[in-house]
Amino acid sequence: MERRDFMALGATAVATTLYGGENTTVSTPKSVDRLGVTAKGLRFDPKKLSGISEKMILSHHQNNYGGAVKRSNAIGEKIAALPSNAQPFELGSLKREEMVALNSIILHEYYFDALGSGGTMGEKLRKGLEQSFGSVTEWENSFKKTALSLGGGSGWVLLVYNRRLGRLENVWSWDHLHGLWDSEIILALDMYEHSYQMDFGANAKGYVDVFFTNINWDVVNKRYIQIK
Ligand SMILES: [Fe+2]
Repeated sequence: MERRDFMALGATAVATTLYGGENTTVSTPKSVDRLGVTAKGLRFDPKKLSGISEKMILSHHQNNYGGAVKRSNAIGEKIAALPSNAQPFELGSLKREEMVALNSIILHEYYFDALGSGGTMGEKLRKGLEQSFGSVTEWENSFKKTALSLGGGSGWVLLVYNRRLGRLENVWSWDHLHGLWDSEIILALDMYEHSYQMDFGANAKGYVDVFFTNINWDVVNKRYIQIK
């Protein structure tokens, strides 16, 4: 869609937030002089995840991810509406909130897009993990332990390829603002309580183990191949 076409849609533009093209709407900005963010649908049938309920996935996708999309677009409107004599701190506060919302959107998409099972770990990724961590088992143990360090709190665990280091790395991320720059995300695990409490209560370990059984390796392999 051309930018001018998007702007012409204005407040009537909607985004699909459910898999399979169901119509749940997320408002897009009315007057922001740039593209708003459109929510992506789930790429898998949430009824078919193993050990994770459809109810929890849909709540997570619609309320937390969808909420970040709405918030991002609302913040964009506020930035666009700031008067020219606004104080720097007024813009700065909005820019901070904008970054939180945008990173939340992006990280949730990496998370949801790699769920749904499929394939097995590819040879190229396996070799990359062996070179960076010693073995796939050591990588997985380190990834899971990093996740558990965030249990009961909030944050993300990310498997990334970092260009500066020239290797794969597990990144501990306390919130949407933490990251290791110059990295490409290969796999993202949401450790905010909203991602597991409904099904697992305080059992973060159970959630992390189930997450691994639901990884779509075809998606993960493709991400790695595209950057290597
Ligand atoms: Fe989340």
